[in-house]
Amino acid sequence: MPSKVAGTKIEAYRRGVLLFLRQGENMITGFIGMGNMGFALMKGLLKQKEPQTLLFSCKRREHGHAVSEKTGVPFLEENVEVAKRADLILLAVKPIVYREVLQEIVPVIRENQMVVSLAPGITISDLSEQLKGFRRIVRAMPNTPAMISEGATGIACDWQLFTAEEREEVNRLFSGVGRVFQVEERLMNAVTVVSGSSPALVYELIDTLADAALRYGMKKSDALQMAAQAVLGSARMVLESGEHPAVLRDRVCSPGGTTIEEMAALAESGFRASVLKGAEACYQACKGKA
Ligand SMILES: NC(=O)c1ccc[n+]([C@@H]2O[C@H](COP(=O)([O-])OP(=O)(O)OC[C@H]3O[C@@H](n4cnc5c(N)ncnc54)[C@H](OP(=O)(O)O)[C@@H]3O)[C@@H](O)[C@H]2O)c1
Repeated sequence: MPSKVAGTKIEAYRRGVLLFLRQGENMITGFIGMGNMGFALMKGLLKQKEPQTLLFSCKRREHGHAVSEKTGVPFLEENVEVAKRADLILLAVKPIVYREVLQEIVPVIRENQMVVSLAPGITISDLSEQLKGFRRIVRAMPNTPAMISEGATGIACDWQLFTAEEREEVNRLFSGVGRVFQVEERLMNAVTVVSGSSPALVYELIDTLADAALRYGMKKSDALQMAAQAVLGSARMVLESGEHPAVLRDRVCSPGGTTIEEMAALAESGFRASVLKGAEACYQACKGKA
């Protein structure tokens, strides 16, 4: 009798350890889609986890095999196989193929899995409906600077539906490629404006500034380097000084100087109005995807 009790305890302990390992660093993360975002997030995870704890599928087999060879992460030819084996399923396909992919995986989804969506505008409740009432869904919006570990990701979900280890796993996925901001789901389209899409606006600014310098005789390649460094330095000033950008801007503007002339001309030509208009178009486009 005592040995049976001891045996039962050992078995329970073993099960506990196995569960812990499965929920911790060995939790399996499956990527469906291996493009810009999928690959950036995979690279971030590989800094923290073994390749055997990841899996992925994508459309082109040759691309899948090439990524697998480079990273050691198993490539599976069928999305449904990724969905069967992963604890966390990351949907890293373009929004236009979401419906098709969700239809493929819905028959094999289990209650104890997690689904992470990167699609702008597609709500948790839309996804849940397409997944026949499955609720353990995280909505995230990263941006391409994730490729160099400088991403900004907004995340929304009902955290109560996840264990502490699962929350940690979601956090690991995005903190491996930059900063993570937890937000309410109603703000996710605003996150797309300020994070997901905003690198395009910043690149436009860098290119336009460099074109201006080109007009005044500088080589475009030099001007691009200088403009990019100015944007990088200014962004770091905002983050590291904790000062409001308007305060930092005013410090660049000397009385009667050159910069205040530039600011006045930008105000006249509607710089802020242009940025707000672009942001509004992005926001409305997110709503249109619902
Ligand atoms: N890029 C951004 O700036 C950004 C920012 C924030 C959020 N997002 C979101 O992140 C998600 C992925 O975007 P992305 O930029 O990484 O797209 P992407 O570079 O075009 O990659 C899409 C991936 O999906 C794969 N794919 C296409 N159809 C598939 C299918 N039926 N089954 C499995 N895989 C399929 C493609 O396979 P192949 O490689 O074989 O063609 C490719 O690997 C989207 O929801 C997007 O809105 C993107």
